[in-house]
Amino acid sequence: MLAGGTGSRLHPLTRITNKHLLPIYDRPMITYGIEALVKAGITELMLVTGGIHAGEFFRLLGNGHDYGVDRLLYAYQENPGGIAEALGLAQRFAGSDKLVVMLADNVFEHSLRPAVAAFEAQRRGARILLSRMEDAEHLRHLGVAQLDGGNRLQRIIEKPEEPPSSLVVTGVYFYDSTVWAVLPELKPSGRGELEITDVNNHYIDEATMEYDVIEGFWGDAGESIDAYYAVNDFVRAHGANKD
Ligand code: DAU
Repeated sequence: MLAGGTGSRLHPLTRITNKHLLPIYDRPMITYGIEALVKAGITELMLVTGGIHAGEFFRLLGNGHDYGVDRLLYAYQENPGGIAEALGLAQRFAGSDKLVVMLADNVFEHSLRPAVAAFEAQRRGARILLSRMEDAEHLRHLGVAQLDGGNRLQRIIEKPEEPPSSLVVTGVYFYDSTVWAVLPELKPSGRGELEITDVNNHYIDEATMEYDVIEGFWGDAGESIDAYYAVNDFVRAHGANKD
């Protein structure tokens, strides 16, 4: 579970707390992601965070037992060097196991269980979860999938000027342990970060990337203040993480 970064798109709210501790309806944002993973059967978790508010996660989550987590570990990201850098801190936690990575600002209407089951059955490589999104303005702020005529993934384009499809890459990624050899090969992007999209494109090039398209609402509450409120409105009216 990745909850680092600066949260600059939600300044000044994120000057006084970590973005993932801001409320979504009646509880802190990160608890939705934790609930999504626990309901999908994932009960061993590492939380990666950073910055001056990191200690607040202890106050909220403690050892995780109240949230259904059996084993909760914490890692501290010294500088917000990107999602793929944050992921690197989980290497010793995951070891040779397969793992699920979730960005803690993502909220789903429906269960992640089918995608988790599909990855359990997958022999090797990686898997991503896509969501349909028609609004081009949104798509320009996210990672977008490019598919060929046979619906095979060709490439993920990060923050595209011209979105190649209306399938957005959500913040849930599945990897086998080969990911630990991919991370050291990454080069910082234009924004100076190690990008998860480069990791995912590596698996697409290798033809070991699979995907699911999840139905129902998906939101990135950290995308903008409007997205934050859209997620709040949706969850208040309809709930989240439903079977
Ligand atoms: O939410 C889905 C999107 O997340 C995808 O569509 C994009 O392909 C993917 O790159 C990512 O884009 P964002 O621009 O939303 O990433 P952001 O920098 O906001 O980081 C998302 C989360 O990752 C953030 O809530 C916390 C975590 N993070 C981020 C950075 C930069 C870290 O833990 N450490 C970091 O250094």
